Amino acid sequence: TMVCVPSHPLIKHWISILRNEQTPCATFKNAMAELGRLLIYEASRDWLPVVNGEIRTPMGVATVEFVDPHEPIMIVPILRAGLALAEHASSVLPATRTYHLGMRRDEMTLEPSLYLNKLPDKFQEGSQILLIDPMLATGGTVIAAVDLLKDRGAEDKQIKVISAIAAPPALRKLSQKFPGLHVYTGIVDPILNEKGFIVPGLGDAGDRSFG
Ligand code: PRP
Repeated sequence: TMVCVPSHPLIKHWISILRNEQTPCATFKNAMAELGRLLIYEASRDWLPVVNGEIRTPMGVATVEFVDPHEPIMIVPILRAGLALAEHASSVLPATRTYHLGMRRDEMTLEPSLYLNKLPDKFQEGSQILLIDPMLATGGTVIAAVDLLKDRGAEDKQIKVISAIAAPPALRKLSQKFPGLHVYTGIVDPILNEKGFIVPGLGDAGDRSFG
C-alpha cells in the first residue's frame, strides 16, 4: 500500500478545525467536506482518463484535454462519516457515480457490520474507485469495505482510499492485505487507544458531523 499525505497548508488548516473540540457540528461537517475536496483533488492527479480534442475559442482553435465523461470515477462513501468527506466529490470530478456503503463498528468488539450495500453487482473492468472514510483506526471497517469491492471484481490497483486521519494499525493491515492499494490521508496519528479511538485524532467523526 502506498500511503500519501499530501502537503498543503489548507489540508493542515481543515484538520486543525476538525481536531478542535470547540468546533460546532455545522463547521465540523463543512471542514470535513473541504478536506475531502482537497484530498480528492490530490488523489485524482495523473489518474483521470482524459480525451483530446479541438475547440473553437472566440479567437481561434485550441487543442484541448477533457476528463473523459464516459469513464466516471466510482465514489464509495462509508456511512455515516464518509458522507461528509465525500460531499464535494461530484463537484471536483466531472464524472462520478456514487455507491453507498453503510457500516457501523461495534463499540465493544470493534468489529464492523454492514447495514447498507448499494454497490453494483460487478464493477466494469478498469473502473477507478475512491473509497471514502475519514477515520482508519483498527482498519476493520476499511478492510471489510475493500473486500466487498474486490468481491465485485475490483482489483487493489483500481482502488484509492481517502481518509482524514489514519492510525498505524489500519495502515499496516491494509499494506499486508492489499499491496496494490493507495491511501490518501490528511495526516497519520500515532496512537490508537483501548477503545479503538485515534489519539489525538478528532473524536467520533460521525457524531461530530451529524450531531
Ligand atoms: C467510524 C469511522 C470509521 C470506523 C473506523 O465509524 O467513521 O468508519 O469507525 O474504525 P475502524 O478502522 O476501527 O474500523 P462508526 O462505526 O463510528 O460509524 P459512523 O461513521 O456512522 O459514526
